[in-house]
Amino acid sequence: MTPVEEIKSRLNVLEVISEYLKLEKAGSNYKACCPFHNEKTASFFISPNRGLYYCFGCGAKGDIFTFIENFEGLDFRGALELLARKAGVVLKDFKDNNRLFSLLELATKFFEVNLNKASKKYLLDRGLTEETIKAFRIGYAPDSFRALSDFLKKKKFTEKEIFSVGLIKKSPKGFFDHFRGRIIFPITDSAGRVIAYSGRIFPEKEKAPKYLNSPETILFKKGSVLYGFDKAKFQIKEKDFAILVEGQMDLVLLHQTGFLNTVALSGTALSEIKGQLRELFYLSPNLVIAFDSDAAGRNAALRAAELTLAHGFDVKIADLPTGLDPADLVREKESGQDFNKFIASAKHVIEFLTSLILRETKEPRTIGARVKKEVLPFIKRLPSSIEQSHFVKKVADMTGIREESIWEDLKRLPRENEKPEEIKKAESSIVRRLLGLYFWQDSLKNPQIDIKNLKSELERLGLFKKEYPKNELVFEAEALYQNADLGRTATELLLNLEEDLLEDKFKTCVTDLNRIKGKEEEEKKLLLKCQEISKRINNLKTRRQKEL
Ligand code: GTP
Ligand code: MN
Repeated sequence: MTPVEEIKSRLNVLEVISEYLKLEKAGSNYKACCPFHNEKTASFFISPNRGLYYCFGCGAKGDIFTFIENFEGLDFRGALELLARKAGVVLKDFKDNNRLFSLLELATKFFEVNLNKASKKYLLDRGLTEETIKAFRIGYAPDSFRALSDFLKKKKFTEKEIFSVGLIKKSPKGFFDHFRGRIIFPITDSAGRVIAYSGRIFPEKEKAPKYLNSPETILFKKGSVLYGFDKAKFQIKEKDFAILVEGQMDLVLLHQTGFLNTVALSGTALSEIKGQLRELFYLSPNLVIAFDSDAAGRNAALRAAELTLAHGFDVKIADLPTGLDPADLVREKESGQDFNKFIASAKHVIEFLTSLILRETKEPRTIGARVKKEVLPFIKRLPSSIEQSHFVKKVADMTGIREESIWEDLKRLPRENEKPEEIKKAESSIVRRLLGLYFWQDSLKNPQIDIKNLKSELERLGLFKKEYPKNELVFEAEALYQNADLGRTATELLLNLEEDLLEDKFKTCVTDLNRIKGKEEEEKKLLLKCQEISKRINNLKTRRQKEL
């Protein structure tokens, strides 16, 4: 048995969650007000039999581990340790980890103590205060090959241990310190424990990289954390948005100036930070990206926007004055630049990109070509056609390009990364419910509905092609429908689904009609199609009256 399985076998989901929430019985399940979004009526369901929870309001779901991660703001490891303690399960490398955490704690103190006059002066000159330096535990790694490792060995840590947290490197001649001659920013996990470091070269040196991070270790999975996350998380929830910056300096200065809802990338790719992105999303789905305004910063901002948009964030980009980064902006009070202003006027990616193009070129044909190449892919990726029309109009207004031409080009653009049709369908709530109902009843000895018929209907609508998260779907259905008239529920859902699908078709048809104005032949065909669809919708409505 893995530790996770063992913990799950000893701890019931009810036992764990009831420590945090007031639960109410609901059939064979329990319910509560959801802790992950604001609500007054309980839509957070817990199934003791399945060991799962699910919120019908915000979609939060999972088991005891995800619950602790999200409620306590811990990473998986932190949640594992907490639950292991509670369950009385001994984790094999748990004791080792404790030692590794104390090693890192000691190393952090070593760096803090070694923050010499020159490096401290540098930090103060860059606008940091003494308190900030303390709060972020900024230190210094002396320019020596052995200073830290000798110190740690005196404290009875082995080379193996020091190596395992990424503080020494191996060479044919032996071990040597990883960080040398660098100002050290400790990197913490969401619980605030130091797990790695980022070092900025000081004094400046040719050829050495400006910043150097710890390598990947068992405590520091490749770029798995945002810098400053532990200090920012409650403020992000409170302010209901997060500011994302590129660097440590930006973050530290922004926190010092009162922008406590800021987190930083600090040299790792956003695509690696999956766990914390989800955590961030729970705290707030609103994100303002404030990267350097040079070409590299802009490209990085666009990539970050693309990725976070795909995660469902509402993303804006702050348009900072050329050549400046957030650190410069909050420091240069005399320049009258108010960072708040830039945050408040942050623009949606599409608008940001369009105004950038307009600033860089005045030549209409180049503008057209760049809009097509750089902006349209973003519009294509927008989830709804209402959003698409909004931005098509916006881009048309900004550039003077005709809306129709933008639509034309947009239509011709291949849809990259488009989800397969059946997945999209499965994501609609009606389909989820229907599939849930089917899997649930199918798992029972005596189903209460005609499951053969339901299956053939689902097949007819093309919904049986993919692997679905069965457990989850069954749980949803069970929680929703346990005392319902299931036969009637199934009929109703099927009718609703069919009507939805037809209405989608109808809408597409009408949109097409609007776009091809003037071409008589095609118009006629489309009109006929529209009529046929609306007839079928009416038939459905009659059937609904008869059958329900
Ligand atoms: P300073 O203000 O000069 O300390 O730097 P900055 O914070 O303005 O950094 P910059 O804009 O040059 O880079 C932004 C962030 O990218 C930094 O904070 C680092 O996290 C990261 N970064 C910069 N240079 C390097 C590098 O050479 N290697 C790595 N791994 N990361 C870097
Ligand atoms: Mn910078």
